[in-house]
Amino acid sequence: MKLAKNLERLGTETAFSVLAEAKKLEAQGKEMIHLGLGQPDFKTPQHIMDAAKKAIDDGHHGYVLANGITECRQAVSRKIKSLYKKDVDPERIMIMPGGKPTMYYAIQMIGEPGAEIVHPTPGFPIYESMINYTGAKAVPYDLTKEKDLKFDPEKILSSITEKTRLVILINPNNPTGSFVEKPAIDFLAEGLKKHPHVYILSDEIYSRQIFDGKEMPTFF
Ligand SMILES: Cc1ncc(COP(=O)(O)O)c(C=O)c1O
Repeated sequence: MKLAKNLERLGTETAFSVLAEAKKLEAQGKEMIHLGLGQPDFKTPQHIMDAAKKAIDDGHHGYVLANGITECRQAVSRKIKSLYKKDVDPERIMIMPGGKPTMYYAIQMIGEPGAEIVHPTPGFPIYESMINYTGAKAVPYDLTKEKDLKFDPEKILSSITEKTRLVILINPNNPTGSFVEKPAIDFLAEGLKKHPHVYILSDEIYSRQIFDGKEMPTFF
């Protein structure tokens, strides 16, 4: 019964409905330019495809550790070090099959009736869907009213109450395309230190898509 109630509150990522409609039209012979899902307009690089094929040929297709292949977690740790000069123990890294499962686990672990979760709007639809699913209260911060569609750290900090459990951030932003630079992120991080009961979910999926030599401010 409880599960059914939760499922009623579960939303969807409408980009997949758009994809389904576009595929139907394509099957009818219509030419399509897909702008629905965030799929790059280039193919997966050859060396990645080669490595995937080689792994299968070499027999790497059985169970692995639940938190991910050790060498993979070590490689992620090295990458974080080279990008952000931060040491993260591979034991604290978890390999996930995509963004949505990551959000599912993170929000599910923290959200429950009575809790508040602060999230961006407009935003990746999964955030609000998952918050509602857990029964927590979704507390949106509106990006459209801000200059350049960026989030305002002061507004985020002022949304925090004693019931807040999680703040969801995304930088660079989807869907607004805005980018919040280091001074504002430092200000936010400093402000969040005053709320040790609040967890941070920092979606930095577009961190390699910043331009003009700008520095990616990260929560690592
Ligand atoms: C803001 C945001 N976070 C994460 C993701 C990745 O999610 P997934 O790997 O489940 O496609 C996307 C993909 O569209 C996204 O736009």
